[in-house]
Amino acid sequence: MIRFTNVTKKFGDHYALKNISLSIDKGEFVFITGPSGAGKTSILKMIYGSEQADDGEVMVSSWDVSKLGARSLPFFRRSIGIVFQDFKLLSRKSIFENVALPMRVTGTPYRDISTKVPQLLKLVGLAHKAECTPSQLSGGEQQRVVIARALANEPAVLIADEPTGNLDYDLSLEIIQLLKDICARGTTVVMATHNREIVRQTGRRVIRLEKGEVASEGTSYYGR
Ligand SMILES: Nc1ncnc2c1ncn2[C@@H]1O[C@H](COP(=O)(O)OP(=O)(O)O)[C@@H](O)[C@H]1O
Ligand SMILES: [Mg+2]
Repeated sequence: MIRFTNVTKKFGDHYALKNISLSIDKGEFVFITGPSGAGKTSILKMIYGSEQADDGEVMVSSWDVSKLGARSLPFFRRSIGIVFQDFKLLSRKSIFENVALPMRVTGTPYRDISTKVPQLLKLVGLAHKAECTPSQLSGGEQQRVVIARALANEPAVLIADEPTGNLDYDLSLEIIQLLKDICARGTTVVMATHNREIVRQTGRRVIRLEKGEVASEGTSYYGR
């Protein structure tokens, strides 16, 4: 589903990623871990095509992301759901409208939007909040709305960059449970986090980065 082959990314003289090769199967839930600056966000941005590799190949499904031109990029991106800290909710729009936004952008008919948004809100446990605005929701609830929005166009892959970053431990586990549920429905989930405790609890595959290189690969020790 996702394959990096000898991928290198430099910013000036500094290597953000150095000769990375990795592969993620369809339907997997994989953590990208490592300390701040290790290259986690860079990996996710390359999956999404918002950073280009200087060297190597990035394949997602049958797309060669490392070679995508400006015209194909928007089409490719419809197959990826993103949960990034810089994609915030629109504060003046309702929760319903926030989740509907990606479908409006792709020209989905209103009839379909009006059935799909309630389904997504139900999935993340927020069916009763459709008419609220983001400021009326807690941090954990807002993050669940962001996840619902990321799923709106039924992406094959969901990438999440530190989705539990601003949440306490219990709420973080709720978000992880939600991501596991989404994965169980067939979506490939790739989540970057520096939180080792969460990773250990979850017991899924872990790709650990250090200074732009894969330092180890394996499964976290306990938890399900
Ligand atoms: N736009 C950028 N310009 C310059 N350096 C960058 C840029 N983005 C990331 N870097 C550098 O690349 C390295 C990896 O960053 P990043 O992928 O954000 O790591 P992480 O998400 O693990 O904290 C860091 O040293 C960071 O400073
Ligand atoms: Mg990061």
